[in-house]
Amino acid sequence: MEVGTISLFPQNTEVNSENHLLLGGCDSIGLAEEFGTPLYIFDEAALREKCAQYRQEFGQRYPNTVIIYACKAFINKALALIFSEEGLGLDVVSGGELAIARSVGFPMERVYFHGNNKSRSELALALEWGVGRIVVDNFNELSLLDEVAKEVEASQEILLRLSPGVDPHTHAYIATGAVDSKFGFPMAQAEEAVNRAMSSSFSKLVGLHFHIGSQIFELESYREAISIVLNFAAEMRAKYGFRLEEFSPGGGLAITYTQDSPAPSIADFAQVITSTLTDRCGELALEPPRLVVEPGRSIVGQAGVALYTVGAIKEVPGGRKYISIDGGMADNIRPALYGARYEAVVANKVKGDKQERVAIAGKFCESGDILIRDIDLPLVEPGDIIAVPCCGAYCLAMASTYNVSQKPAVVLVSEGRARLIRRRESYEDLMSYDVV
Ligand code: LLP
Repeated sequence: MEVGTISLFPQNTEVNSENHLLLGGCDSIGLAEEFGTPLYIFDEAALREKCAQYRQEFGQRYPNTVIIYACKAFINKALALIFSEEGLGLDVVSGGELAIARSVGFPMERVYFHGNNKSRSELALALEWGVGRIVVDNFNELSLLDEVAKEVEASQEILLRLSPGVDPHTHAYIATGAVDSKFGFPMAQAEEAVNRAMSSSFSKLVGLHFHIGSQIFELESYREAISIVLNFAAEMRAKYGFRLEEFSPGGGLAITYTQDSPAPSIADFAQVITSTLTDRCGELALEPPRLVVEPGRSIVGQAGVALYTVGAIKEVPGGRKYISIDGGMADNIRPALYGARYEAVVANKVKGDKQERVAIAGKFCESGDILIRDIDLPLVEPGDIIAVPCCGAYCLAMASTYNVSQKPAVVLVSEGRARLIRRRESYEDLMSYDVV
């Protein structure tokens, strides 16, 4: 593997003799021609490799681990099938994600239903379809779930989501474990939640969950949060005989978007979580629970690459040179929303000498629609293809049709073959919900 921006792409990415970027053995320029741009490409081997790494790194340290993929990072039918084959479970947060899982026959006992405001109809669907666990977020939901379960005469295994008040120092919009958070029971109400859940006749409380945030570099935050929640579990055992059968420290591992911010590895993450869990359970004489880990970004992030075609180029005297591409904030809102930074290469001149510093601008009607503010690239011309690594997570999943634009097509590449797994939206698709 070469160093430089190429190292941010899926591991088997190469550059061919024409100086084109090869993704999963496919010429990215050929893919752009065949499927059009903006195009999102997922490298199947890279995806499966991350699943395997999660299974191995956790499994060898703590065999009683279940890995569930957090669908919010990006899901569609083809990906759901891959995760099913890889033996992962799914973390879903909506009826829509649940429906995708169901549509491919995903084993429902491996599905965990999350969310801070699940509706009555979503809960009813979850019970009807037999999801493995519902992760209950608040008192309202505890009551609502009981009502729904009573109506359909079902019982349901649940976890309670706690908010341990740990600050992982990530972007405020994606930190979720702080005390004043919309997610989970604050520790001050956790005892009451356990009490109420344990006295329900329809819900069976099997465990505790927390999720402190996303794109987390500081693994120490997990140690802190795990200790808080396990101490609480021990206290609940002493007071009420609560048995912690399952424990979920959420997801949140960062990925390396830019070379100057290297993320911890999956092995580092597994080491911190499993060692803290084992040590603390030992100290508190808790029977080690089943561990449920919920990675999203760190599974799909690096496997996904976005391709764009360069159009207008404009040099502002005394200002920046703007390279405009045919996508932007509608397919990747992360730079505008979080100030997220990306790197890029010119896919048809990957190894060209970097000759100029430019800004890569999106095509949407908002001045904040700048994908990359400053990047050194070879001389870029209209028609060139820009490839942006690490676009697998939270880009398409958060895509909009702003300016009535078509959501991109998605292609899965593997061993030199490319397969369309989501077609590009058409104008007809865009108007298909309108009623005149
Ligand atoms: N589990 C729960 C309960 C979560 O809320 C999340 C993410 C995950 C797992 C997966 O976290 P991951 O491993 O992907 O970090 N849109 C933001 C990220 C929002 C994350 C929301 N929750 C972004 O683009 O950075």
